[in-house]
Amino acid sequence: MLKTIEWIPSQPGHPVPGYVRLIDQTRLPGEITYLETTDVQEIWDAIKVLKVRGAPAIGIAAAMGMAVAAQQSDATSTAACLQDTETAGDYLATSRPTAINLFWAIDRMKRVAQAHAELELNAFIDRLVMEARAIRDEDEAQCRAIGEHGVAFLAECRGVMTHCNAGSLATACYGTALAPMYVANERGQQLTVYAGETRPLLQGARLTAWELMQAGIDVILIADNMAAHVMQAGRIDAVMVGADRIAANGDTANKIGTYGLATLARAHDIPFYVLAPTTTFDFETETGVDIPIEERADSEITEGFGSRTAPDGVQVYSPAFDVTPATLVSAIICEHGVAHPDYRASLAEMAGRTSTPEG
Ligand code: MRU
Repeated sequence: MLKTIEWIPSQPGHPVPGYVRLIDQTRLPGEITYLETTDVQEIWDAIKVLKVRGAPAIGIAAAMGMAVAAQQSDATSTAACLQDTETAGDYLATSRPTAINLFWAIDRMKRVAQAHAELELNAFIDRLVMEARAIRDEDEAQCRAIGEHGVAFLAECRGVMTHCNAGSLATACYGTALAPMYVANERGQQLTVYAGETRPLLQGARLTAWELMQAGIDVILIADNMAAHVMQAGRIDAVMVGADRIAANGDTANKIGTYGLATLARAHDIPFYVLAPTTTFDFETETGVDIPIEERADSEITEGFGSRTAPDGVQVYSPAFDVTPATLVSAIICEHGVAHPDYRASLAEMAGRTSTPEG
């Protein structure tokens, strides 16, 4: 599996400090290049320009960014280092507004920092590095568990549709929506994944198609506007997507275009599943209406990959996410199991569980 984002520890007796290494997703599928950094500004930029993207992965990046900030701080006391770490967290929180995992990870790092403010400076920094690495490792385990729970929903499927990239590249390792597909593949099940290309930045074409091909999973790329036709033709048995934030009532924000697919799935009587770890649940946001939706630069639509495809001066509206009402969601699959409507009760029950499945 891909190592989307990792902490590379310092070597004993070696002067180079630990650092963050992440795949630069803006260069895929053409090149596999890595950003290696100990710089908070570079991590903020990487999140902003989508070198690292996908809700869980940006949470991990922010946590590692705070660990980097602690390590690079020139503070001579733990109290001052704590302050620098919190300032870095506040700054990283300004990078993107929709994925709750970003804010969840920053809050967790702040709580751990505050709880260990009595430690000696080096021990304090080590503790923060440990926490950031734990966030990454937990995400890997959670996504694996999502795959184990989700694979049951693919048992009768030949064709499954997905949108954007909710795979390995969006998380520490297995992905969310793609995790059941990896598990099914390991078990020898033949599946065909229809990946929508995902305008305007083509996460489906550049990332999902690429990573599934790397894994030897059968994938067919379609332009976004082909989804209705492909469903009508009977090629799709289920739709599986990830999430950037799930409100208390089950309304789900995900990459722009997801709501359209959910509507189409309902029209064609195809089950529509959302797969996400509990770190994507936001019980403080009552319904999808209150989820902040990121707007991106006009140029991503008018000249996304270099050549201009719209007239100079045209007005553009570019929301990066939309909200799928809970009523269109057949089930929400997380690391603890499967939430069904009524989601308000079912999601709360899932979040209260602590176990993950065997395997
Ligand atoms: O703008 P992006 O590429 O960060 O959007 C990502 C998505 O919408 C994913 O589907 C979502 O974060 C789930 S990732 C497991």
